[in-house]
Amino acid sequence: MLSPLLLFLCLTLPLFLLSFFKYRKTFKNPPLPPGPRGLPIIGNLHQLDSPSLHEQLWHLSKKYGPLFSLQFGLRPAIVVSSPKLAKEVMKDNDLECCGRPKLLGQQKLTYNGLDMGFSSYDSYWREIRKICVVHVLSSKRVQSFTSIRHFEVKQMIKKISRHASSSKVTNLNEVLISLISTIVCRIVLGRRYEEEGSEGSRFHKLFNECEAMLGNFFVSDYIPFMGWIDKLRGLDARLERNFKEMDKFYQEAIDEHMNSKKKTPEEEDLVDVLLQLKENNTFPIDLTNDNIKAVLLNLLVGATGTTEVTTIWAMTELIKNPSIMKKVQEEIRGLSGKKDFLDEDDIQKFSYLRAVIKETLRLHLPAPLLIPRETNKKCMLDGYEIPAKTLLYVNAWAIHRDPKAWKDPEEFIPERFLNCDIDLYGQDFEFIPFGAGRRLCPGMNMAFAALDLILANLLYSFDWELPQGMKKEDIDTEVLPGVTQHKKNPLCVVAKCYM
Ligand code: HEM
Repeated sequence: MLSPLLLFLCLTLPLFLLSFFKYRKTFKNPPLPPGPRGLPIIGNLHQLDSPSLHEQLWHLSKKYGPLFSLQFGLRPAIVVSSPKLAKEVMKDNDLECCGRPKLLGQQKLTYNGLDMGFSSYDSYWREIRKICVVHVLSSKRVQSFTSIRHFEVKQMIKKISRHASSSKVTNLNEVLISLISTIVCRIVLGRRYEEEGSEGSRFHKLFNECEAMLGNFFVSDYIPFMGWIDKLRGLDARLERNFKEMDKFYQEAIDEHMNSKKKTPEEEDLVDVLLQLKENNTFPIDLTNDNIKAVLLNLLVGATGTTEVTTIWAMTELIKNPSIMKKVQEEIRGLSGKKDFLDEDDIQKFSYLRAVIKETLRLHLPAPLLIPRETNKKCMLDGYEIPAKTLLYVNAWAIHRDPKAWKDPEEFIPERFLNCDIDLYGQDFEFIPFGAGRRLCPGMNMAFAALDLILANLLYSFDWELPQGMKKEDIDTEVLPGVTQHKKNPLCVVAKCYM
C-alpha cells in the first residue's frame, strides 16, 4: 500500500515539474544576439586568433549581422560592426557601455586601474580624466611643446638630407619610430634618449614588452579557474617582471624631477606638470606617485605607437599612389613658397593633407577594435537586452570598410574627405579612429600637432622614389600582430631633396 505522503507526491510531482519548466522558460535570460556556437567552458576562444581578430570578427559579422554574440571562455561578449550600432553603443547607451573590463595585464600595469584608459567608469575615472584633459593634454599645453617638435623634425630632415646626398636608401619606419619616440620622451619625461645609447634601447625594450603585456591573452581573464595555465606558460612571471622594471623606470624619472633645479614654465615637461598637480592637491582625489605612474603609462604608450603607425601608413599609401602624392605635394609647395621649414601657420592651409591623414586613419586606424569596453549596466541594443558585465567590441576597422557608408571602401581616396563634414570627434559613427562618447581619445590635439608637422615637412622637403628594381606594387600592407597596427615590413625609399 502506498503511504498517503507518497501518493500525494506521485500526484503532485508532475504538476510541480510542469510548473517548474514553465517558470524557467518565463524567467530564463532573454536571448543574446546570434553568434557562432561555442564549446563548453572555452566558448568561442578556439575559433579566434588574436593577431587578426578584427578581420575575423569582420568576417563573422557578414554571417551573423552587425550585432553578434561570442563567448570568450566564461565571459559573454558582443561585437558591433555598423555605424548605426556604434551610435547606439557610444552615444545612445554611452553611459551603460563605457566601462572597461578588468583584464590582468592592464590592471597590473596601471596600478589597478589608476590610469584613464583602462580604469572602470566611476568617479575616480571622471576625476583623473578631467585633470588630464584640463592640465596635461589641453591645446595650450600641447602648444607649449612646439619648439621640441620643431627641433626634432628639423633633425630628421637633416638626417634624411644626408641619405639623399649619398643616394642612400632611407628606412622610413626606423626614422619615424625614432623621431616620434624622441618627441614623446622629451614632452613627457624631459629626456632625449640617443638612438644608439643604452638608455634608449632600455626604453624601447621596456615599452615594447609593456605593449605586448597590455594586449596579451591571459587565460585567467576568461576562465578564472584555469589561471594556472598562465603560470605554466610563464606569463604571470613575465608580467611581474615588466611591472617591476616599469615601476623602477617611472620612479627614476620622478626622483630625477624632484631633485632637479627649478625650471621655467617653458622648460617644464609633463612629469613636472603632474608633480605640481600632486603638490597642489586641490582635487577631490589624492594624487600619489602610483597615480602619476599609471597616467605616464597612458601618455607614453598612448602617444607613441598610434602616431608612429599613422605617419608610416600615410607615407606608404602616398608612395603606392603617385598621383595622390603629386597632388598633396603640389598643395603644400604651392601654398608655402620657398622655405626651409613649414610651421603651424603654413600647415593650417593644407586641406588636402588633412584629407590624406583622415583617409589614412580610415583604412589603417591604429586601434582597429578601439579599446574594448564592458557594459556597466544592462541595456538594450538593437532590440536585444545586453546584460551588465558583457564585453563589448566596436569593430571600427569593419565600420571603416562598410560599403553602405563608404563608396569603394578598400580604395585610398582622400577626396572623399574634401568638402564633407565628417569629423574626428566621434559625431560621425562611420568614422571613429579616435573612438567616441565619454571615452573619446583625449590625445587628439597632441597627435595632430605631430602628425601634421612631420608629414607636411617630409612631403615638402623631399621627393620620394622607390629603390632600384622595386615597383609600387611590391609595397605590401602586412601588419604585425599586436594591439596597434604596426606595418610588418619597413618602408624603404629613396629621398631626393626638393630644393
Ligand atoms: C593617431 C593617434 C591616436 C589615435 C588613432 C588614438 C586612438 C584612440 C582610441 C581609438 C581610443 C579609445 C577610444 C574609445 O574607447 O572609444 C583612445 C583612447 C585614449 N587615447 Fe588615444 N589615440 C591617438 C593618440 C593619442 C595620444 C597622442 C595620446 C596621449 C598623449 C592618447 C591617449 C589616449 C588615452 C589616455 C585614452 C584613454 C581614454 C579613456 O579611456 O578615457 N592617444 N585613443
